[in-house]
Amino acid sequence: MRKILITTPIYYVNDKPHIGHAYTTLAADVLTRFFRVQGKEVFFLTGTDEHGAKIAEAAEKVGKTPKEICDENSEYFKKAWQNLEIKYDYFIRTTDKRHEEAVKKFVEKLKEKNVIYEKEYEGLYCVGCEKFLTEKDLVNGLCPDHKRKPETISEKNYFFKLDLKAVKKLIKTKKLKISPARAKSEVLGLLNQGLDDFSISRQKKRVKWGIDLPFDKNQIIYVWVDALLNYISAIGYGDNEKEFKKWWVDARVIHLLAKDILKFHAVYWPAMLLSVGIKNPDEEFIHGFFTINGQKMSKTLGNFIDPNDLVKKFGAEVTRYLLLSQFPLSQDGDVKEEKFAEKYNSDLAQGLGNLVSRVLALGEQYGKPIMLQFSVSDLIARSWNDYKKYMEGFRLNDALATTWNLISYCDKYISEAKPWEKINDEKEFQKILGSLIYILANISLMLSPVMPETSQKILSKLSLIDISEKEWANLKVQLKAGEPLFPKIN
Ligand code: MSP
Repeated sequence: MRKILITTPIYYVNDKPHIGHAYTTLAADVLTRFFRVQGKEVFFLTGTDEHGAKIAEAAEKVGKTPKEICDENSEYFKKAWQNLEIKYDYFIRTTDKRHEEAVKKFVEKLKEKNVIYEKEYEGLYCVGCEKFLTEKDLVNGLCPDHKRKPETISEKNYFFKLDLKAVKKLIKTKKLKISPARAKSEVLGLLNQGLDDFSISRQKKRVKWGIDLPFDKNQIIYVWVDALLNYISAIGYGDNEKEFKKWWVDARVIHLLAKDILKFHAVYWPAMLLSVGIKNPDEEFIHGFFTINGQKMSKTLGNFIDPNDLVKKFGAEVTRYLLLSQFPLSQDGDVKEEKFAEKYNSDLAQGLGNLVSRVLALGEQYGKPIMLQFSVSDLIARSWNDYKKYMEGFRLNDALATTWNLISYCDKYISEAKPWEKINDEKEFQKILGSLIYILANISLMLSPVMPETSQKILSKLSLIDISEKEWANLKVQLKAGEPLFPKIN
């Protein structure tokens, strides 16, 4: 079976993580867990982007060296992922020696293939974006994203000969699948409109914090070339051919990212790989952007949600659910802080938590072992089909909605069947409660990628922990009421 490599962008360490970064990383974690349950071998890669003017500038502002800022802030990212129960396989830092060596090797390859040339260039550079902008991109003379005036830069750099035709072919033939469709048309639009060759280096006298260009000591490698190469340096490009073959060449490679960095991933990166004859990623999924009250999240605007604060308030499991369930992954979403508590109460305290409590209380009241009943197996099979289709299509919130439909089904079934009136009708009570336990066990399994601990907790309350589904038939479980899983909050 084909192995899977799932990646997130590597995040800039000029600042600490916010829920936007958490969104991508959580989605990658959930998909990794989902694919593993399906029996697939998965490698989940994330990390931090640590070179360039943006980082150097952030360090200078607080009177630290770039290295100090990188060490400190990359730890914040690691800590945040740990707090969110995100389990990556490898955390790459672009200041790792191993990465630096791989980048140099790749750039030498570009030279060997004769796809770079020297050129004098003048352009408007935004350090916030770490890219050149055109006059057309500006709003009132400022970068619309960073609200700052770009610098006019005129210098001699090395440029990469961009073969747009080859990239177009790659995307049109679906060798590189870009989804959702909106993102794909945006890329095709860019390719049709035409893009200039891009510089792969910067003059060292302007930007010092980076990797030396091996064949010109006056230049350092452009931070985006350095950053994109993390996807292959992390898994052995340049120093471990066997691993590289296993997790890149032969694997299904999926990049997750948002639209802010689409051009780099869907045009520049494929072009770079094509030019040296390395296989391209198989898929790029472009997810939506969180805004807060319609505004881009930023420290300066003071509308920055720290995922650690959510974890403090709700715990990791609930935060994972709340961040992933509110919007389709493919669409933008305006986050409202008050919505978190509302959704917690409706979906978790009243929805899932209440259902678990009711089933356990009924079981305790009955007092005898209950046999699982499979009368609703059609409904369960259909739900699993939908759930898997949604997960595979990056529709995480729809997969969750499918799970929550089963919760609603159980609630309705309980109100209609009134099991509390049938506690002495052995056959009827066994049928009702046995069915509820069976559905709830399936709900727990569906929950496991998003809420791994909750899933285990419910299975354990149902006395089904570590019992495979094959063994569910003929199994008798005895239930005991317990503390509510999700106490209501104000
Ligand atoms: N360092 C580059 C990426 C290099 S990858 C080879 C970079 N870093 S970043 O810190 O700005 O991260 C951008 C990514 O973070 C987005 O593409 C997205 O994955 C995530 N998000 C950042 N803000 C976000 C939102 N407000 N909403 C959703 N995701 C967001 O660009």
